[in-house]
Amino acid sequence: MLVMAGLLITVAVVLLVAERILISYGECSVTINDKQCIQVEGGETLLSVLNRHKLFVPSACGGKATCGFCKVVVRGGAGTILPTEEIFINKAERELGMRLACQVRVERPVRVQMPETLLGAREYTSEVLAVEQLTYDTRLIRFGLKGGDEVHFKPGQYVQLLVPGTDQYRAYSVASPPSRALASRLSSLVSPEFELIIRRVPGGLCTGWIHSAVEKGDEVRFTGPFGDFYLHEDSNREIVAIGGGSGMAPMRSIILHLAEQGMPRKVTLFFGARRRRDLFYVAEFQALERLYPNFRYLPALSEPRPEDHWTGETGFITQTVQKHIVPGREREAVLCGPPPMIDAAMRVLPRIGVQPEHTYFDKF
Ligand SMILES: Cc1cc2nc3c(=O)[nH]c(=O)nc-3n(C[C@H](O)[C@H](O)[C@H](O)COP(=O)(O)OP(=O)(O)OC[C@H]3O[C@@H](n4cnc5c(N)ncnc54)[C@H](O)[C@@H]3O)c2cc1C
Ligand code: FES
Repeated sequence: MLVMAGLLITVAVVLLVAERILISYGECSVTINDKQCIQVEGGETLLSVLNRHKLFVPSACGGKATCGFCKVVVRGGAGTILPTEEIFINKAERELGMRLACQVRVERPVRVQMPETLLGAREYTSEVLAVEQLTYDTRLIRFGLKGGDEVHFKPGQYVQLLVPGTDQYRAYSVASPPSRALASRLSSLVSPEFELIIRRVPGGLCTGWIHSAVEKGDEVRFTGPFGDFYLHEDSNREIVAIGGGSGMAPMRSIILHLAEQGMPRKVTLFFGARRRRDLFYVAEFQALERLYPNFRYLPALSEPRPEDHWTGETGFITQTVQKHIVPGREREAVLCGPPPMIDAAMRVLPRIGVQPEHTYFDKF
C-alpha cells in the first residue's frame, strides 16, 4: 500500500516537472475589460495572474474549486469548461462565457471581463490590535489599518485574509460597522479599524493560525471588500435578521450600522445556537434593545442542558421566527449561518411575508 502511494506521488511529481520543462506556453497576454493588458509567462492559473497584478477576485477556497466565488467572464482563450467548474456555472452564465478563474490556465491570449465592483477591491496591510475569546471556539480579532489607510465596505460584506507564510486566502465577513474603518469619520486620535469573528474549524489552516498563533502586533494582509450580501439602504422595510454560529459577524455589522443612525428601521435579530455556551454578544444586543424600541433580539437554543439554566426560546431558530413574526407586513430578510439553517429559513420566510427577491443571504 505504502509502496503504491509512493509510486503514485513519484509519477505525479515527474509529470509536473515534465510539464514545466517540456511544455512552454511562451509569453501570453491577459486583457482586462479591453483596457489593461498584462504580459505573463503561460501556464499559471488566471486567478493567480489576476491576484499577482493586484486585480483581486474573491477566492474563498484558495483555488480548490469548492467555493465558486472566483467567477469572471472570459471572452476568449480559456479553452473548454472543466468538470470542476460545471456545478458552479449555470446555463445562462455559461452562455455569457463565465468561468472559474482558479480553473482557467493561461496558455494563450485571454480576454477577461471583470465587474467594476471587483476592480475596487484592494490589498491592505493591517496590524492585530486585540484578540478576544468570545466562546470556547470563537474569537474576535480587531485589526488596525496601517499607514492612515481606510477601507470602504457595506455592512454585510467580507474581506479575505492572507494566511501568513502561505499564498492562501480565507473569507471573513466584517463584524464591525463601516464607520470605524473610515479615517474621515473618526477623530485624529483613533485609527481606522475593523473586527472579524472567527470560529475554529478543526484542522483548518486559517482558523488554526487564528486560534493558536495570532498575537497582538502581528502584521496581516487582506484584500477586499467583496460580496453582494449587504444591507440594502435604499429600502425602509422591516428587517428579519437570522444568524447562527460565525454568521453573527455580518449581522452585527448591519445592526451596529443601523444603531449609529438611531435604528431607523424595525429589526428583529434571531440567533440560533445549540447551547448557552455558543451564544455571544448577549449583553451587547440586550443593551441595544433597551436603547432602541425598534430593535428586538431573540436568541434560541436547540439543545439546552439543565446546567444552562435557560429560560428563553428553545428549538430550531425557524420555529422562533414563526412564533414571533406575524405575517402580513412587507419585510426583508438578511440571513447568515450554516447552509442547513439558511435553507430551512428560506422555506419559512415566504410564509411570514418575506419574498425571495427581498431575501439576502451568505452561507458558510
Ligand atoms: C463569504 C464568506 C464569509 C465568511 N465569513 C466567515 C466569518 O465571518 N467567520 C468565520 O469563522 N468563517 C467565515 N467564513 C468561513 C471561512 O472563510 C473559512 O472557510 C473557515 O474559517 C475555515 O478556514 P480554515 O482555513 O481554517 O479551514 P480549511 O483549511 O479551509 O479547511 C479545513 C477542513 O475543514 C473543512 N471546513 C472548512 N470550513 C468548514 C466549516 N465552516 N465547517 C466545517 N468544516 C469546514 C474543509 O472542508 C476542510 O476539510 C466565511 C466564508 C465565506 C465564503
Ligand atoms: S477560488 Fe474557490 S472556486 Fe475558485
